[in-house]
Amino acid sequence: MPTWLTQWTAPPAPRPACPPLTHHPPPALCLPPPDPLPVPVPPPNPFPVPPPLPLLLPVHRVRLLSLHVQRFRNLTEVSLVPGAHATVAVGQNGQGKTNLLEAIYLLATLKPLRASRLSELVQFGAQGARVSGRFLLKGAEREIAVELAEGTRQAFVDGKKAASLEDYFGGVSVVAFTPDDLEVVKGAPEARRLFLDRAVFNRFPAYLRETRSYARALKSRNRLLKERAPEEVREAFDETLARAGARLWVRRRALVDEVAPRAQRAFASIGRTPLPPGYAYTPVGLPKGLDFAVAEEAALVEVLAAALRTRAPRDTERGFTSVGPHADDLTLTLGERSARAYASQGQQRALVLGWKIAEIENLELATGVKPLLLLDDVSSELDPERNAYLMEYVAASGAQVFLTTTDAGLVARAAGPDTLWLTVRGGAVTD
Ligand SMILES: Nc1ncnc2c1ncn2[C@@H]1O[C@H](COP(=O)(O)OP(=O)(O)O)[C@@H](O)[C@H]1O
Ligand SMILES: [Mg+2]
Repeated sequence: MPTWLTQWTAPPAPRPACPPLTHHPPPALCLPPPDPLPVPVPPPNPFPVPPPLPLLLPVHRVRLLSLHVQRFRNLTEVSLVPGAHATVAVGQNGQGKTNLLEAIYLLATLKPLRASRLSELVQFGAQGARVSGRFLLKGAEREIAVELAEGTRQAFVDGKKAASLEDYFGGVSVVAFTPDDLEVVKGAPEARRLFLDRAVFNRFPAYLRETRSYARALKSRNRLLKERAPEEVREAFDETLARAGARLWVRRRALVDEVAPRAQRAFASIGRTPLPPGYAYTPVGLPKGLDFAVAEEAALVEVLAAALRTRAPRDTERGFTSVGPHADDLTLTLGERSARAYASQGQQRALVLGWKIAEIENLELATGVKPLLLLDDVSSELDPERNAYLMEYVAASGAQVFLTTTDAGLVARAAGPDTLWLTVRGGAVTD
């Protein structure tokens, strides 16, 4: 780790020194050698990180060996062999750099990185898009493909239709970091839920199925509210919704419990403020006296079911469900005050950067998987020191990383001799 990452005191101001002793006499006006600096004593870490979870398995590094993209946004046809460690896509704005990362993200998660509809990803005028790649996953090579057509997707693993999404996910883990993430503190609660859920989904693959069950149950309840269905019918649905919702609460709580202390520690290096950061998840509508931090899942089912019952008249008026994980927020604070209201833009971005670094670290420690990293043009949004921290982190992490930038100089620290440098222009990718 470079010393500036661990240094606790400001470096001394440079001062002119006498040249090293030679057989020539030193010039008369030079300063004597500086006094030895006191050895910096690190203050006690205010954010002790939980000890690493015992890892019984070796760490598996997700590795993309080759990528083929067809008719995906403005990328008509792209084939490449990524760098073993870093691949950097350089180009002006609007050329297709983010599209390239979006294709990789889709391949790894089946979900769009920024599109709200899958159909947006298909090239204008084309019938369908295809992204495929060879991954090295837990020592085995896997050919994975995703085809998009008419708003639906189909995944293939080694040429066979993937039976379920969880089969498909056996080991592909990816952490994306985009300028939208950097805006998340200022954004709407929905953006923060997505930000949180992406981390939960990586950590607990079953979360994908669980969020779908919850979304289905929520949709049914909302429909019943709008139709003003009889109370008994709606209450029968409330039970299912409460069970599904409590599960999402527990997953999000578990993830925040793991990531928050690490994020606080990372922030201590980049926040440039003594104010402590806070990352907290507390559902809305919990009864007073319930300690969410320790509540059993069964108790949370009861609590949510009761909240749904209490709010039923109001929800019926409005035609939607006002309590549950879909209405919650991730609370980001600095010095115990709302970061959204009081933190500077740089501090807000440092809060997000701290979280992202913690998320990557935590995945590796908790699951034994070193994820693929996709960094979309974040360097231009961070100030030089924070960008340097991130680039050093990426280089030291050993993960395979894909970076996009308009200015190659900004990401140079993350690159090594085996980096693949790509130029993206008008949807064409060349090396
Ligand atoms: N479905 C699509 N078909 C064709 N081109 C698209 C599609 N969606 C977006 N684009 C084009 O992609 C370009 C933006 O690409 P993007 O990857 O965001 O650029 P950047 O290099 O700035 O990251 C724009 O020119 C946009 O018109
Ligand atoms: Mg872009």
